[in-house]
Amino acid sequence: MSEVVRLERHGDIAAIVVDNPPVNALGQAVRQGLKERLNEAANDDAVRAIVILGAERTFIAGADIREFGKPPQPPSLPEVIEDMDACPKPVIAALHGTALGGGFEVALGCHYRVALDGAKVGLPEVKLGILPGAGGTQRTPRLIGAAKALDMILSGDFVAAEKALSLGLIDEVSKAETPLEAGLAFARKAIDEAYPLRRVRDLEDEILADRGKSDVFDDARGKLKKTARGLFSPHKIVDAVQAAVELPFDDGIKRERELFQECVESPQRAGLIHAFFSERQVGKVPGLKGAARRPLISAGVVGGGTMGAGIAVSMLLSGLQVIMIERDEESLARGKATVDKILEASVKRGKLTAGSKAAVMTESFSGSTDYAALSDVDIVVEAVFEDMEVKKGVFAQLDAVLKAGAILATNTSYLDVDALAAGTSRPSDVIGLHFFSPAHVMKLLEIVVGDQTAPEVVATGFALAKRLGKVGVRAGVCDGFIGNRILATYRKQIDYMVEDGASPYEVDDAIRAFGFPMGPFQVSDLAGVDIGWMTRRRLDATRDPRERYVEVADRLYEAGRMGQKSGAGWYLYSEGNRRGAKDPVVENIVVQERAKKDIEPKSFTPEQIQRRYLAAMINEAAKVLEEGIALRPLDIDVTLLYGYGFPRWRGGPMKYADMVGLDQILADIRSYAEEDAFAWQPAKLLVDLVERGENFESLNK
Ligand code: 3HC
Ligand code: NAI
Repeated sequence: MSEVVRLERHGDIAAIVVDNPPVNALGQAVRQGLKERLNEAANDDAVRAIVILGAERTFIAGADIREFGKPPQPPSLPEVIEDMDACPKPVIAALHGTALGGGFEVALGCHYRVALDGAKVGLPEVKLGILPGAGGTQRTPRLIGAAKALDMILSGDFVAAEKALSLGLIDEVSKAETPLEAGLAFARKAIDEAYPLRRVRDLEDEILADRGKSDVFDDARGKLKKTARGLFSPHKIVDAVQAAVELPFDDGIKRERELFQECVESPQRAGLIHAFFSERQVGKVPGLKGAARRPLISAGVVGGGTMGAGIAVSMLLSGLQVIMIERDEESLARGKATVDKILEASVKRGKLTAGSKAAVMTESFSGSTDYAALSDVDIVVEAVFEDMEVKKGVFAQLDAVLKAGAILATNTSYLDVDALAAGTSRPSDVIGLHFFSPAHVMKLLEIVVGDQTAPEVVATGFALAKRLGKVGVRAGVCDGFIGNRILATYRKQIDYMVEDGASPYEVDDAIRAFGFPMGPFQVSDLAGVDIGWMTRRRLDATRDPRERYVEVADRLYEAGRMGQKSGAGWYLYSEGNRRGAKDPVVENIVVQERAKKDIEPKSFTPEQIQRRYLAAMINEAAKVLEEGIALRPLDIDVTLLYGYGFPRWRGGPMKYADMVGLDQILADIRSYAEEDAFAWQPAKLLVDLVERGENFESLNK
């Protein structure tokens, strides 16, 4: 007898309870258990109705994602659902928590669905690179029509119980305390009032209304060209829903199964599921288990510029009290006005009510030019100019006024967190919290752990990330930590390729074609050409003379082409237009710089551009791992996915490298090293892994 699914008797009603923590996923044992218990209940003459429900926190949250890619083990989910559908007694799904994916498909295979207030349903398979493969694409349009079904399945969004009721996805929202209570009450009515067996497969009205109308599907395919660039499964979802409308149910189910299999076998499924598990694993830092956390009620932000204001907003929206410190009244007023402006934009977008905004501004937010105002806060994030001396001065003042146990954090992008800590009397309370711009939007937070940072300070950093709705990644101290350090390396290759013959526009096109939302030159124009210039000047003193240096970007800076903000950078921006146009002036600058170095331009195919870009990224990432700056490959994947636009469906650079094969990546690096041995020194870790026939995945823990 399977323990993960049990049968309870409540008079003439059988309750089948799925009890497979944490989310009652439909692994093999659950499928087997469901099939057996259903069979038992169906064959028990004393049972007149059957309720299916989940134990603990939720109904079934879907197929067991860990089983994808492994040999299928019977019974299959469609087979189990078919049994429910065919059952001669009313089968009722009693939903609470989240009924998702295969879990909601189980509910759709039942004859009735009742949900607790607060429950959510959804078909989020698209986010994992697959499609609902147990009847979801066939039954949903039979309940709500093809257009709404497509919206639901293509977005993967969760639908709250009340909305699900009004759409017709469920039959009742119950005020009962437990799903068992709700299910039994519904079953009682079904028995007493002799409800018919309402099989979704037999519902025809919506299907007949949609049949012959191709515009719904043409529209959906048209939209996907923009919204699902490079993605595989959304297109298959449209095909599957169209099959629901055009084919008899059993043929539609067969078609759904074929399309589902294609998705399961696609590399995108592997990439997206890797991303799913990695973002859950990333907060489980080895060595941090059980570390205490310090309470966080109030926070200080020093510096109210681009980053400080964004960080303050993020903290305010999480319910923290925030005090902003600036160097003078004028800068403080500007910082506060930026906070006000960002919050106002949230009100306009309907994310915040005007009343809540007013309350936040008056009750939770204040500012001062006097550090003494911070004497009682639990944490301070410093976001002043990127200058070691300025930051050291700020830390000295913080050290003088903060209470014992307060956390001193820096938002520096590159500077040495240990050197900052060393200047204080409490280095174990110092940490880097590297937010990304815009800080109230970007989900990544690098949690930079210094030599002396106390484990509970690190654990509090992760707790803060979670509270702010961000994904925290542990990083060690080095120039640029995980993300910016890797970026600096692959970014250089881009400049080399341009000097060697590619145009900046070809490069951007190739990188976008790989799946990044923007090309590196578009990013440079957005961030400001001056930012890159400042970074290069900072590194002038320490740059190795063997390093190749490309001056094209310096020429743009000298010409005042700062990017979007000055109307011209790598692209030309007409008034009010953020989509730049290619500019022959830039192409001319490139030609002149090549000529100065006697470089005979050669051409690069998009694939050649992508391979160099990725090889540089992966090689530096391997060095970051080797040095312990990142603890695990998955930490790098999450960093690049959330902070640098790496396409999620490729899983991150480490997953991508594993899928391509580390031997091929290493072979590429070695061939590029023939041109530039200094830039292309293979990471020892990469060489070792190739020699041992292992991959990055083997290092994830
Ligand atoms: N399979 C296996 N493990 C799962 C899982 C699943 N479907 N869903 C969640 N988990 C695991 C998580 O990895 C995590 O494990 P951990 O504790 O070891 O890290 C644990 O369950 C708890 O998950 P969360 O940390 O995400 O908990 P939350 O409470 O924040 O969220 C949730 C719960 C909303 C259910 C969220 O986990 C979620 O969105 N899960 C995925 C749901 C989904 O995509 N379902 C569709 C699956 S595909 C499918 O059904 C195919 C079918 O059509 C044939
Ligand atoms: P910014 O120039 O917009 O803002 C800096 C603010 O600090 C200014 O308002 C200035 O008045 C204030 N300030 C300077 N000295 C001060 C002092 N002694 N006391 C109080 N306030 C002081 O700079 P930005 O872009 O916000 O960057 C701040 C920090 O964040 C830097 O360390 C930067 O490297 C880091 N960072 C920046 C990112 C970006 O994209 N801009 C991304 C991630 C980190």
